[in-house]
Amino acid sequence: MSARGHAFGIDIGGSGVKGAAVDLATGELVHERIKIATPNPSTPQAVADTVAKVVDQAGWDGPVGITLPCVVIDGVARTAANVDKGWIGTDARALFSAALGGREVTVLNDADAAGLAEDRHGAAKDFAGLVLLLTFGTGIGSALIYHGTLVPNTELGHLEIGGIEIEHRAAASIKDRDGLSYAQWTAEVSSVLSGLEDLFWPKVFVAGGGISHDSDQWIPLLTNRTPVIPADLRNAAGIVGAAMAIDAGIAP
Ligand code: BGC
Repeated sequence: MSARGHAFGIDIGGSGVKGAAVDLATGELVHERIKIATPNPSTPQAVADTVAKVVDQAGWDGPVGITLPCVVIDGVARTAANVDKGWIGTDARALFSAALGGREVTVLNDADAAGLAEDRHGAAKDFAGLVLLLTFGTGIGSALIYHGTLVPNTELGHLEIGGIEIEHRAAASIKDRDGLSYAQWTAEVSSVLSGLEDLFWPKVFVAGGGISHDSDQWIPLLTNRTPVIPADLRNAAGIVGAAMAIDAGIAP
């Protein structure tokens, strides 16, 4: 259990850099989240400067946990599927730490952070066993968690099912791009979930991302066999998971 009562989490997304202090015992935000638009282009230095502004606005001087939409190993971003390619190979932990005056920083994948938060404090808190969270957004992020332990950087959005990467079939952005109805999009999601459940056999899928706010319009249409529950923490999951990662020893 954490020696700290509060920690600061930052979630870096396509549209905003969002941060808040988090009560680690309850998973609740301690204050209204601070959001600054993600710089365009979202180069490492520009994003690091934005992170520093968010932390500064909050007046926070402790350690900070930060998400990136990238595979992150030992603080280094290894992929950049939906973000500036300049991130690939960037030592994000060192970059953010320097932007924050040399303080302790933990960096992890965005979906992994959401998964940690939903597993401990959100939708999956009462499920024992294997939990597979998928975030449906620009791409598809994934987090695989077994009894509270995260298997980091699973990147299932890039798994091919039916010969196509699943994020190119069933991300929320595909629904928007192709003007699909919920029924049409959900047929793709069902097919993707059926493929995933045959490989991983989770007890439950947690559906995250902005489209999970409309879950009553599409989760009932799904035809795969494993229960699918909507994420609970809404747009705070990444922030909460990032803050949790500081003490969870997450150094993927
Ligand atoms: C990236 C993942 C990320 C997900 C959600 C995917 O395209 O490869 O690292 O978690 O998008 O942002």
